[in-house]
Amino acid sequence: MKSFSERVEIRGRSLWSRNAVKGVSLRGERLKRDGRKEWRQWNPRASKLGAALIKASETGLLPEPGSMCLYLGSGHGTSISHLHDHMCGAKNHLGGVIVAVDISSRCIRDMIRLSKARPGKVPVMADCRHTEHILPFLSKKVPWLFQDVSQSGQVEMFIEACNNFLAPNGTGLLSLKSASERDTQGAFDYAEKSLKDAGLTLIERIDLAGWEDQHVLFHVVC
Ligand SMILES: C[S@@+](CC[C@H](N)C(=O)[O-])C[C@H]1O[C@@H](n2cnc3c(N)ncnc32)[C@H](O)[C@@H]1O
Repeated sequence: MKSFSERVEIRGRSLWSRNAVKGVSLRGERLKRDGRKEWRQWNPRASKLGAALIKASETGLLPEPGSMCLYLGSGHGTSISHLHDHMCGAKNHLGGVIVAVDISSRCIRDMIRLSKARPGKVPVMADCRHTEHILPFLSKKVPWLFQDVSQSGQVEMFIEACNNFLAPNGTGLLSLKSASERDTQGAFDYAEKSLKDAGLTLIERIDLAGWEDQHVLFHVVC
C-alpha cells in the first residue's frame, strides 16, 4: 500500500480516496468499506491527476489538506471530487478551498450541483486566460495550481497563471496533451524548455502513457 495522505492511497493496483460523502458514487466508481471509513475508487483513465499520482517518482503532487488551490479546466469535476475528498473531507471539516474554473457553462452547472454536497468547492465560469475574472475569487496567491485545459497555447497560459496566482515555492501542475498543440511531435520538449526559461523549477516530467496516451504532466515549483 502506498499512502499519499490519510485520505488518498494506492491499494493493490488501484487508487482510492476517502469518500467525503458516504454512500455516494459520482460516476459509478466502486465504494469500499473499511471500518467506519469509506473509500472511493479514483479512476486514472478519467483523471490525469490520478494517473500522475500512480506514475510519479517524486512526492509532493497533492496540496495540503485544508489549504486553498486553483484548478483551471475543471471539466465535469471528476478529479476535483477526489481532490475534495483529500483537501476538505466530510462537510469540509478540514477547511479546504478549491477554486474550480471552466469556460463551459455545462461543466460549471455540473460543478454547482456537486458543490452542494461538497462544501469547499468554488465553481467559477471563466476563460482562464482572463486573470481579472479569477482574481476576485482568491483571497491570496495559492500554494497549489493545476491546469488541464486541452487547448492550444496551454504552456503559455500555464506560465501566465503561475506568475499571477502561484505563491512563492508553490506547486504547479500542467497536464499537457500534445495533440492539442500545433507542433505535436515537439510539444513536450518545447514545454519543458519554456517552463525552465520562465524560471520555474522542473521537479518531474511524468509521462501518463498507459493511462492517458499523448499526455505528460509537468510538476514544477515556483
Ligand atoms: C480535459 S477537460 C478537464 C478534465 C478535468 N481536469 C478532470 O480531470 O476531470 C478540459 C476542460 O478545459 C476547459 N477549458 C478549455 N479551455 C479553457 C479556458 N480557456 N478556460 C477555462 N476552461 C477551459 C474545457 O471546457 C474542459 O472542460
